[in-house]
Amino acid sequence: MTRVPAVILAAGLGKRMKSKRAKVLHPLAGRPMILYSVETAQRLPSDRILVVVGHQAELLKEILEGCPVEMVHQGRPLGTGHAVLQIKTALTGYKGPVLILNADVPLITVDTLRSILKLHRDREADLTILTATLSDAAGYGRILREPDAGEITGIVEEADATPAQRAIREINTGFYVINTPFLFEALAGLKAENSQREYYLTDIVGIALREGRKVCGMGVGDSQEVMGVNTRADLARTEKAAARQIAQRHMLEGVTLLDPETTWIEAGVTIGRDTVVYPAVRIEGTTRIGEDCVIHSQSRISDCRLGNGVTVKDSCVLSGSVLEDGVGVGPFAHLRPGTVLRKGAKVGNFVEAKKTEIGEGSKANHLSYLGDAVVGKDVNIGAGTITCNYDGVSKHTTVIEDGVFIGSDTQLIAPVRVGRGAIIAAGSTITEDVPPDALAIGRARQANKKGWAKKKKKKGSRGRKR
Ligand code: UD1
Ligand code: CA
Repeated sequence: MTRVPAVILAAGLGKRMKSKRAKVLHPLAGRPMILYSVETAQRLPSDRILVVVGHQAELLKEILEGCPVEMVHQGRPLGTGHAVLQIKTALTGYKGPVLILNADVPLITVDTLRSILKLHRDREADLTILTATLSDAAGYGRILREPDAGEITGIVEEADATPAQRAIREINTGFYVINTPFLFEALAGLKAENSQREYYLTDIVGIALREGRKVCGMGVGDSQEVMGVNTRADLARTEKAAARQIAQRHMLEGVTLLDPETTWIEAGVTIGRDTVVYPAVRIEGTTRIGEDCVIHSQSRISDCRLGNGVTVKDSCVLSGSVLEDGVGVGPFAHLRPGTVLRKGAKVGNFVEAKKTEIGEGSKANHLSYLGDAVVGKDVNIGAGTITCNYDGVSKHTTVIEDGVFIGSDTQLIAPVRVGRGAIIAAGSTITEDVPPDALAIGRARQANKKGWAKKKKKKGSRGRKR
C-alpha cells in the first residue's frame, strides 16, 4: 500500500476539560494521549507525520522528542479547518491524499485506518469520512444523508444542529482521507459562520458536493475505537476502553487475567506467557514481567522488572525495583526505587526496602526496614531488623555479607559492615563492624532477681485498703 502523509490535529485548548494542561497531554493508560495517534500513524506506516500544535506546544515538543514527526504551528486555534490549513506549506508540491486524525480520539486502530485508505483509493473518492453509529451521539458532529440512508450530504456540528438533526445517531469520528490540492482550495473558502465562530473542517463536505466531487463514508466496526475525549467523563470512559483493549491484547498473548475488568495495566507494560494476574491489580509505567509469575490482588507495580516465576502476594507496592527469577514478595511488602532482589530472594510481611540489594536466596520475612543496604547471599534477616541509614543529615550504607544471620529486632547503625558468616544476637544494636564468623551481641545483659516479683505482689495486697 502506498504511504500517505498523516496530519494529527492537536492544537486545541480542550476547554471542556477545565484543565491547566492541554487535553492531548492528559495521560491515558499511563501515557500522554498525543502518543496514541502518533504511534498509530507510525505503524500504518505513514509517508510523513505532521502534528498541528498550538496550546502548550513546548510541552508537546518535549513529549514528541525522538518521534519521527514534523510540528506545524497554528497561531490561535480558530477551528479544525484552520488547523489543517497550516500544513499547506509543508505539503507544497505534494498532490495526493492525506489522512487526517484528531489527537483527542486516541484508540483508533491501524486496521481501521488502513481500511479507510483502501476504500478511498478503490472508490476513487475525493473525500472519505470515517463514521460510526452510536447509541448516544451527544457531543459529536452528525452525518447528514439523503432520505433513506442515501449518500452523505454534509456534517452538522451538535452546536448548530436542529432537534431533528440531533436525533441522528450516525456521527463524524474525526478521521478523513482527503485529496490535495482540493483540500487546500476548499479550506481557503471556509467561513466561520456558525455558533462557535470557528473554521470547521467538516464544512468542506458541502464544498466537495457542490463541486460534484465524490464523497464516501465508511462505518467503523467497533465504536470504542472512535471515542472522542472532550470532557473528564469522556476521559474516564476512554480510559476504561483503553484498559479493555490492553487486557485483551495480553490475554491473546497468553497471560491469564482472572478479572480483566478490575485489572489495570498501562500501555507500556509487557507480561510473559502463563503469568497469572489476580483481580484488582495495577501494573504501571515501564514494568516488564516475565513468564509464570503470579501477581495477587491489591498489588501495585510501577516501573519494575520481574523475571520468571516471581510471586507477588497480596497488597504489595513495588516501584522502580528489580525482582529476579523465583523471587517472592509480600503480602504487604513495599519495595521502593533502587531495590534489587536477586534470584530466589524472599521479602515478606510488612518489609520496606529502599535502594537495597538482597542477594540470592536471602530472606527478610517480617517487619523490617532495609534502606541503602547491600545484603549478600543466603542471609537471614530476622523479624524487626532495621537499618538505621539516616543520621539526620546524610544517608549511610549497611553491608551484610554472605551467610550472615541477623537475629530479630536488630538495629544496624550505618555505616556498618557485618562480615561473612557472622551471627548477630537478637535485640542487638550494632554500631561497629562485625568480623567474619563472629557472634556480635550488642544489648544490656539480663539480670534475674529470684522471687522478686512474688514478694512485690504480696506487699501490694497487704497494703491495699478494704
Ligand atoms: C470534531 C468534529 C466533529 C466530530 C468530532 C469527533 C469539527 C468541526 N468537528 O469536533 O464533527 O464529531 O471532532 O471527535 O471538526 N484542533 C486544532 N485546532 C483548532 C481546533 C481543534 O488543532 O483550532 C484539534 C483539537 O486539539 C482536537 C481536534 O482538533 O484534537 C478536534 O477538535 P475539537 O474541538 O475537540 O472538535 P470536536 O468539537 O470534538
Ligand atoms: Ca473532540
